[in-house]
Amino acid sequence: MKSLPKIELHTHLEGCAPPAFVRDLAKEKGVDLSGIFDEHGGYAYTGFVDFLRVYEAATSVLRSPEDYARLTRTILAEMAAHGVIYAETFVSPDFCGGGDLAAWREYLHAITEAAAQAEAQDGIILKGIVTPIRHFGPERSKAPAVCAAETVGDWVVGLGMGGDEGNGHPRDFAWAFDCAREAGLRLTNHAGEFRGPDSVRESIEDLGVERIGHGVRSIEDPALVELLAEKGIVLEVCPGSNVALGVYPSWADHPIARLRDAGVKVTVSTDDPPFFHTTMTHEYDRLADTFGWSEDDFAALNRVAAEAAFCDSDTRDALL
Ligand code: ADE
Ligand code: ZN
Repeated sequence: MKSLPKIELHTHLEGCAPPAFVRDLAKEKGVDLSGIFDEHGGYAYTGFVDFLRVYEAATSVLRSPEDYARLTRTILAEMAAHGVIYAETFVSPDFCGGGDLAAWREYLHAITEAAAQAEAQDGIILKGIVTPIRHFGPERSKAPAVCAAETVGDWVVGLGMGGDEGNGHPRDFAWAFDCAREAGLRLTNHAGEFRGPDSVRESIEDLGVERIGHGVRSIEDPALVELLAEKGIVLEVCPGSNVALGVYPSWADHPIARLRDAGVKVTVSTDDPPFFHTTMTHEYDRLADTFGWSEDDFAALNRVAAEAAFCDSDTRDALL
C-alpha cells in the first residue's frame, strides 16, 4: 500500500506538523506547550473545538518564514515516503503574518522555495489553498482572501475556509469567496463535517464552491447526495480524521463507500495526519480492510482526485 501513488487534496500545512517538530520549535523559542501533549508525546484533545485550540497552540510556535520552510520540508518528506505524488494544502495568512500582505508574500516565498526543493528531490508536487479561519469571523476572512487574490498563480491555486463550522453561515463569508473567484482562484469549503446537509447546500448555493472539504454528512439527505452526483461536486473525504474527531464511531460506520456507490465523486485525504495518528498509507489500508477496496479502486480514486485538482492543466494531465 505504501508504494502506491497517491493524490490528496485536503491537508492543512500546520496540521501536518509532527508533535516532535512542534516540541523542538517550542523548546528553541522557550514556549511551554506541555499542556497540548499526552503521555506518549502525541497531541491531546477532547473533541473538535478542543482540537482547534490545540492546533492553534501548536501553530503558535511557527513564527517566521524560515519556520514554515522547515515545516514544509519536513511534511513533504513524510508525504513522499507514503507514495504521495501530489498534494494540496490549506495555509492561512492569519498564521503567516497576521493577514498582512507584505508579510504573507515573505511566508509564501519561503514555503514555495521549500516545496520546489522537495519537488526536485522527491518528485512530490505541493499546491496551496489559502484558508480563512471560520471562527475568526467574517470580517477577518477578508484579509486572507485579498492575500490569496494578490498572490494567485502557480502555487496559490484556491481558497477554502476551515475552522469551526458551527460559526455562522457560509453566506456570511461570501465577500471572501467572491473576491477569490474574481481573481481566478478555485473554491472549496469545509462543510458537512460538524454540521449537516444544509451546510453543504449553502456552500454550493451561496459560495459557488466546486469541491467540499469533508461533506460526508451529505449522506443524511438523499436529495443532496443526488445533487452532488449530478453537479459533479467533489468531496475531499478524510475518513481517519472523521473517526478520530468522533463524526463517526468507527470506519465501518463511515459513509465514504455509500457516497461513492451513489455516484458522488469522492477523494481521500489525511487532513491533519499526526493529530489523527494517520498517514495516506494508513487511510488506504483501512479502506481496503473495511470496504474491500482494491488497487483498481485506489487508481480510480486518484483519477477523480487528479481531475479535481486545482493546479494548472499541464500539471493535472501529468497526474492522469
Ligand atoms: N482545520 C484543521 N483541521 C480541520 C478540520 N478537520 N475541520 C475544520 N477545520 C480544520
Ligand atoms: Zn480540513
